[in-house]
Amino acid sequence: MNILLVGSGAREHALAWKIKQSPRCDRLIMAPGNPGMADLGDVVPVPATDIAGLIHLAKQQRVGLAFVGPEDPLAMGLVDALNEQQIPAFGPTKEGARLEADKAFSKKLMRETCIPTAEGRTFTTLRSAMAFVESRTEPLVVKASGLARGKGVIMCDDPVEAIDAVRNIMEKKIFGDAGNTVVIEERLVGHEVSLLAFVDGNSAYIMEGAQDYKRIGDGDAGPNTGGMGSFSPAPRLTDEIINKVQAEILVPLLDALRRQEIDYRGIVYTGLMLTPGGPKALEFNCRFGDPETQPLMLRFNSDLIEIAMACVERRLDACTLNWKPQPAVCVVMASEGYGWKPDDQAQKGREITGLAEAARVPGVQIFHGGTALRDGKLVTAGGRVLSVTALGDATAEARERAYAAVAKIHFEGAQYRHDIAAG
Ligand code: AMP
Ligand code: GLY
Repeated sequence: MNILLVGSGAREHALAWKIKQSPRCDRLIMAPGNPGMADLGDVVPVPATDIAGLIHLAKQQRVGLAFVGPEDPLAMGLVDALNEQQIPAFGPTKEGARLEADKAFSKKLMRETCIPTAEGRTFTTLRSAMAFVESRTEPLVVKASGLARGKGVIMCDDPVEAIDAVRNIMEKKIFGDAGNTVVIEERLVGHEVSLLAFVDGNSAYIMEGAQDYKRIGDGDAGPNTGGMGSFSPAPRLTDEIINKVQAEILVPLLDALRRQEIDYRGIVYTGLMLTPGGPKALEFNCRFGDPETQPLMLRFNSDLIEIAMACVERRLDACTLNWKPQPAVCVVMASEGYGWKPDDQAQKGREITGLAEAARVPGVQIFHGGTALRDGKLVTAGGRVLSVTALGDATAEARERAYAAVAKIHFEGAQYRHDIAAG
């Protein structure tokens, strides 16, 4: 079968690497892909948000399954458009993608379904949001309701910061129209973990746990980013907690989606805070996590296409998910300025060297995110440049291998965290 993978980040590179191992994959077409993905199949320069272009490509290439990586095309209705053409697609429809693309919708659904989550309220005017913030004294979290590349959340230590955050989002529009509506929540304290599940419209099959690092700096210092590293499994996600999440969060979520006649097939990513009062949902995403997918794919021991087709055909209950017992660790190497400046101001065009040597470190896979080819040379082309990922017999070994590979890779201004999976 010909498979179309949509997206161009390191998450998609990891998915492509795994899809390519499936005996069901004849040709892999990636749009728009990146230079690291080129030796896995055909990289076609159709942007992930060009819905008409992707439909044309899928028809032209007689695609048997379209696998959608990022949230933007899902929120724009790519899967709806593929379904209209009878092209099987892995990922939720536009309505389902609101779980991630519309935090106000997601919060309302959580509240109506009694899913444990932070107390929160939604506002559509600056005045009402300001009045609410001014009446509070506790630390708050202010969120743009729409999609903001994982950056639309501002953590505030005191009301002054919260007032600034509301002004920045609703008045100065730092996240554009994504900030027309804001969700303001109590700030939860605890450890954060990610739990991803395959969903076939009826049931959810939970994957092994993973944990990511959102802040740019060691020891969780500095601004939030798209994710600076990750590891799997996550020892904090005990069987007891996973059972609780299944019963208190995922089952009620799927029931609520069904009640609203949303036919959800694809991935549900639950961002969880492990609080003293039990696990609480911070957010839902409608796709694989980045960078959680990188270690998860190294560990996944089933046929990803078989499982994706089972989701599409609603027969997940006949499948089992197998995992390698070995842990995996991913260290993200980012461009100079990434995290501190807007993404489009990250330094680009810097030559990357040492990849071949780094790839020879045992257990290591290097997934490209923001790279490009210029005059035959590999250069940086975005914020998160590379996801250096390694499998090992223990987390310590996976970590050592990932950092040994990182040490062999060079580009000017490279920044990465030194404490990924450090305990
Ligand atoms: P979200 O996109 O809603 O997951 O938010 C991004 C990040 O902000 C999360 O991964 C958390 O680190 C943090 N966050 C979001 N909501 C809360 C909350 N209510 N309390 C504490 N941290 C939060
Ligand atoms: N790792 C966070 C995300 O994918 O949203």
